[in-house]
Amino acid sequence: MSRRLGALIAVVALASGALLVSAVFWYRSIGVGISIDKAPDGVWLGILFWILLTIAASSLTVGMPGGSFLDVGFAPIVAAMNLGGPIVAGLVALFGATQSRELRRQAPWYGVVANHAGITGPAIVGAYALSLVPSRANTAVDVVATVGAACIFFSLNTFITSMVVSVRSGEPIGKLLRADAGAYVNMLALAPVAWLMAQMYVAAGWWAVFLFAMPLYTTRLAYQRFAEVREMFTETVRSLAEAVDKRDTFTSGHSHQVQEIAKAIGQAMKLNNADMEALEWGGLLHDIGKIGVPDSVLLKQERLTKDERTTMNAHPVLGAEIIAPVRRLAPELPIIRHHHEWFNGSGYPDRLVGDDIPKLARILHVADAFEAMTAARPYRMTPLTPEQALAELRKFGGIQFDPDVVDAFVRTEWARGLADPGRAEVREVPLIGQAAGTLPMTAHPQSDASSAGGAGAPESVRPNPASA
Ligand SMILES: [Fe+2]
Repeated sequence: MSRRLGALIAVVALASGALLVSAVFWYRSIGVGISIDKAPDGVWLGILFWILLTIAASSLTVGMPGGSFLDVGFAPIVAAMNLGGPIVAGLVALFGATQSRELRRQAPWYGVVANHAGITGPAIVGAYALSLVPSRANTAVDVVATVGAACIFFSLNTFITSMVVSVRSGEPIGKLLRADAGAYVNMLALAPVAWLMAQMYVAAGWWAVFLFAMPLYTTRLAYQRFAEVREMFTETVRSLAEAVDKRDTFTSGHSHQVQEIAKAIGQAMKLNNADMEALEWGGLLHDIGKIGVPDSVLLKQERLTKDERTTMNAHPVLGAEIIAPVRRLAPELPIIRHHHEWFNGSGYPDRLVGDDIPKLARILHVADAFEAMTAARPYRMTPLTPEQALAELRKFGGIQFDPDVVDAFVRTEWARGLADPGRAEVREVPLIGQAAGTLPMTAHPQSDASSAGGAGAPESVRPNPASA
């Protein structure tokens, strides 16, 4: 456990503990609504009932794509909040949040603390908010107030959980929050169900609460299906990318590596979450068009003929065509189509110049080239060292690569400790681009960074064999 994570968990635990103590001192009494079967001395039995119900519901956790866990234990806690106020909400959340993986000792102790504290504090805050609402004898007011309190509870809990996962995994918090967004709506839809549970408990008795077991269970199944479908999508895309890489033993794992480098550059450039996600998928799928390149061309170790090079250079367009029907991957299309455009306009397929090249494609181009240069290829069995590869990126900054993206690459862990020659001299990029635009659309020999290696510079500007 890192220091930052420890500090965060300690703050959350202390805040939640302080909230529970303050609830006890502030309210002193427990709402009588929680008393089981309205018995005068049934308050603690009632609390125990809701704790057990929450434990049962919490045992059905579903791992979400963002790395957090969701469970339907949320509903009994909101019901307890409605019935008994802040003290009861705190106690039911604190003990009811016990998960089966905790009992099986599969969760680290700090994870257990984070889980319980991350639920208890928000539950008390939600219950405080609910207790401040006047006229709750009015049914409509009570429903709206309970849903509002549930929103506060769930939002706070989600934020704390995402913060902990973010510090632990290094993933941006916004990305984690967004990854689970689909589940939030379902979760909040449970709030009115929780209110109904509370009403049934008071009006008909504790047994009536079990009438809600089936809807809660089906909700849990819906979460599970949501998580499974997303996971399946991720795995399918990963397998597809790996299948393309594996056609050539030299490029196995290439897409995954490019994805990692591109993500690091994106983080250094402080991209927003949508762009980061596009880079992730785009990194994996950028060479998907190579599916349509015959083995005789893809695996050829000698220099490609002009026609073969044209076939090879068609892979970005082909890739974009393959992915186009998948609406979910629309943000990745510009990356796939333009990842071989050159900053000076002499790349392919559209000869875009400078900032006209989509930013994410410029990032991927640098990541792709760095990976290709530092990995063995049949035409260059000894790969460049990371330092040599960085020198190439610098040398071709403004020609092939966006110099700002290369600057960002230098700030990533991939360039940590490497000697950085700094930016090459400033070149008149627009003029070169205009000149390139007037040239006929011919293929550049050996210009595919990932298949032909090196910085992919055309022969005319390639200074030494190290970049070929
Ligand atoms: Fe490519």
